[in-house]
This record gives sequence, structure tokens and C-alpha cells, in this order.
Amino acid sequence: MVSSSYRRAILQSAVLVTIVFLIHMSHDLSNNNDNIYNNNLDTHEIKSISSTVTESMPTTNGYSNLSCPFEMSKFSCIYMHQGVNHQVAAHASMDYYRQHLEMIGETFRQVLFEDSHTTTTTTRRSNKRRILLSGDSLLRQIFISIACNAHSILPNTTLIQDAVIPWQDPWPIVYGPNNFPSIGGGVHGGFGSASIRLVNGMELHYVPHRGYNSDPTAGEPMIIQRLKEDIANYNGRITFGTKTAMPLSIDDHVDVLVFQVGIHYGLGESKTVLNHFANWISRPLMSVTGNNKDNNILHDGYETLHGGNNNDSIEQPPSRTRTIYITTPSQHFNTTNGQWEIMSMTPQSKKCIPGITSNPRADQEKKMLKPGVNGDVLLDYDDLQFGTMHVQYGDCSHYCMPGVPDGVATRLMQELLLV
Ligand SMILES: *[C@@H]1O[C@H](CO)[C@@H](O)[C@H](O)[C@H]1NC(C)=O
Ligand SMILES: *[C@@H]1O[C@H](CO)[C@@H](O)[C@H](O)[C@H]1NC(C)=O
Ligand SMILES: *[C@@H]1O[C@H](CO)[C@@H](O)[C@H](O)[C@H]1NC(C)=O
Ligand SMILES: *[C@@H]1O[C@H](CO)[C@@H](O)[C@H](O)[C@H]1NC(C)=O
Repeated sequence: MVSSSYRRAILQSAVLVTIVFLIHMSHDLSNNNDNIYNNNLDTHEIKSISSTVTESMPTTNGYSNLSCPFEMSKFSCIYMHQGVNHQVAAHASMDYYRQHLEMIGETFRQVLFEDSHTTTTTTRRSNKRRILLSGDSLLRQIFISIACNAHSILPNTTLIQDAVIPWQDPWPIVYGPNNFPSIGGGVHGGFGSASIRLVNGMELHYVPHRGYNSDPTAGEPMIIQRLKEDIANYNGRITFGTKTAMPLSIDDHVDVLVFQVGIHYGLGESKTVLNHFANWISRPLMSVTGNNKDNNILHDGYETLHGGNNNDSIEQPPSRTRTIYITTPSQHFNTTNGQWEIMSMTPQSKKCIPGITSNPRADQEKKMLKPGVNGDVLLDYDDLQFGTMHVQYGDCSHYCMPGVPDGVATRLMQELLLV
């Protein structure tokens, strides 16, 4: 049984992955209510489709040096540090990745055993779960990591069924050692919102909560407010909003909300955002009761929205939205607590130090958010001693990829597969 569902999944994923790169995708596009499975993207809205990529299947596990089509070059230290001696970070993070390959492989392999064709009535809904990830560029790294491992961790197969990565052009260039530039637009440059669908039907939609390229409106800066209104208007349900890269129906149900405050707010502002997240969003969502058809709007409208080929007459109504909070990663600047200190950064303090004793952001988050009380899951990035694996050269906030984000992304994936 195991081997036949494995074989089926391989066959399924042998269908060539079509990766549509959308550049400057208009926001109108994400407002339409088309079922995303039609992928009826209006071609006039698409300024550039770079290509239909038919990836040759990787023969070795995992990704590196832009072998994954979802990597941003500035985070790929093997790529950025090429040809120079300063490769400590690149090698340390590659080693970290290799040490975790087995765990990553085992985790992602479970996606194959959820082949949507073999699921039963009771598991049907959970196999179509839809995830909303809201955070800044640090949470985007987790999204990239899930996409890249899904794409590459199993030999000769990919777990990606669809991907919409709206690469932006231009994208700000950063310079590595020897002034080696990151890719300044298009594939491997950078993107804001992006979506993937895996072969088991799971969808992940990343939407930046502070925008990108200095444009807050490109993301969803008011997302906490919007989710609060959703909970009130839809009686305990939250939806995807209008900024996802794969347009979703306006009423589409979020099965899991993954949230991270990130590093752009001051500590005081972060506290306010965390309070709002806990009191307006995660705690109220926890008190929504089951999927009882009579008392629960979770069911109302859901059947009609999800009619079609999926035989929804037997589909379970969705359960309440779960929340997963991932602590904000440590920064390792050469300052008292590793944090970037506005106004007082010197060339010396912009160098990354190997370890710090505490991460004030994560400490605040862990103090305020209690799993089971005001959120379902708290994932601790747990990275105080990982300072050598940052991108370096002025960036002691983001980690090299592959590397530290893959460990956290795998723990997140384990949680998502349990839901
Ligand atoms: C990484 O890829 C670039 C081409 O994009 C290549 O020039 C370089 O040699 C590669 N580095 C390693 C370590 O494989
Ligand atoms: C993967 O593909 C390569 C090249 O086609 C082949 O040599 C190898 O045996 C395959 N590996 C698996 C595990 O199927
Ligand atoms: C939907 O499921 C029901 C109950 O299992 C079954 O009787 C029916 O034939 C299915 N319909 C379709 C279109 O597959
Ligand atoms: C950190 O800064 C101090 C001076 O404040 C300096 O002595 C030390 O070498 C720096 N550490 C690193 C890793 O650059």
C-alpha cells in the first residue's frame, strides 16, 4: 500500500511542473473570485511570463546555489560568496542543512502518503488544507524553504503541483564579498506575496504584512485589523484577503494562520501587535467550537463555494482556524543584544557575532504567547548560537539558504501535516 501510493505520487508529480512567473501582477487580479484551480489568470494582466519551466528532476536531494527555482539570490550564500575566501557562513549553513537532510526528507515525504486520490471521507478536508503565512522577509524565508525542500528533497520527484511566484523587476541589489551583486530582478531576484500548492492539495500563501520594496500597500499592513473584522463578520472564521498570489475566493477559509511579528517594529510596537494578535485573533479563534453544522457559520456558504469536481457533498465542513506563531529570529549584530541599533551602527557593529545570550524579541513573544491559552502552537526559532550562519556583509538578520530556515520550516511542516 505504501509503495503503491508512493508510485502513484511519483507518477502524478512526473507531470511537468508549470511555474508561472508573474511580474507586476495587478492587484485587481487577486480580487477576482474565480476558482483558483482554473488558473484563469487574465493574460493581459501578466506583463511577463518568463517561461514554462520544465525542471529536470534533481538527482541529489536538497537545494543549493540557486538550484531551486524559488530561491532569492541574496540569501544563497554559496552563490553570493563564490570565488572568495570568506565562505565560513556558506559552509557552516550548508553543513547545518546536510545534518538535517534526513529529518527534512522524512517530514516532506509524508506529503506523498496524503495522495489526494487515496483519501477517505473523513480525511478529505484536511488534505486540502490552506495555510496563510503573514510576516516580513524573515517569514518569507520559511516560505521559500518549504517550497525549495518540497521541490528538491526527494530524489527524482517534486512535491510542488503549482507555484505562483510573482518575481519583481527590478529588485534592490545587495553586494556580497568582492562586490558580487545579487540578482536585480526577475527569477532569483525577489518577490512579495507568493503561493504554492503541493501534490497532497495543501496550499501555502505567503503575504508580507509590511509590504515590500518600501511599498507597504503591496502587502497587507492592516492584516490584524482585517482578520479581526473577518472574525466578527463571519462568526469566527478568517479568510485570505485580496493579496495572495494565487487568487482565492473572497470567502475562502484559512485552516492555519502562521504569524510572525518580525524585526521592523520597535520592541514597544511589537508588544502592541502581539497583544492585538493574541486578543483579537488567536484567542478568539481558539474559542470557536467544532464544526457543528447547526451553530457554526464555518459551514454556511462553504458548500456552495466549494462545489465542483471535489464531491463536496461528502466533504467535512472546515474546523476552526489554528494559529501557529513562529518567534522572530535572533539578530547577531555586534551590539549589546544583537539587535540593530538605529543611529549608532558602526562598521564594527555591523559584523555578525557567533552567539548572543538572549533575543529580546523572542523573549517578549514567549512571555506573551502561551500555547493552548492564546494560540495553538508556538515554534521557537531557537537560534541564539547561529550567528555565523547569517548572510553576513551587513546582514546579521537573515540566514544563508539552505541553512537555519530549513530546520524551522521542517518543524512548521510537521505541525501543518498534523492539522
Ligand atoms: C554556483 O552557481 C554559479 C552559477 O550560477 C557558478 O558559477 C558557481 O561556480 C556555483 N558555485 C558552486 C560552489 O557550485
Ligand atoms: C533518479 O534519476 C536518475 C537519472 O535518471 C537515475 O539514475 C536514478 O536511479 C534515479 N533515482 C531514483 C531513486 O529513482
Ligand atoms: C459523491 O460521494 C457520494 C457518497 O460517497 C457518492 O454516492 C457519489 O456518487 C459521489 N459523486 C461523485 C460525483 O463522485
Ligand atoms: C565587536 O566590536 C568590538 C568593539 O566594540 C570589537 O572589539 C570586536 O572585535 C567586534 N567583534 C567582531 C566579531 O567583529
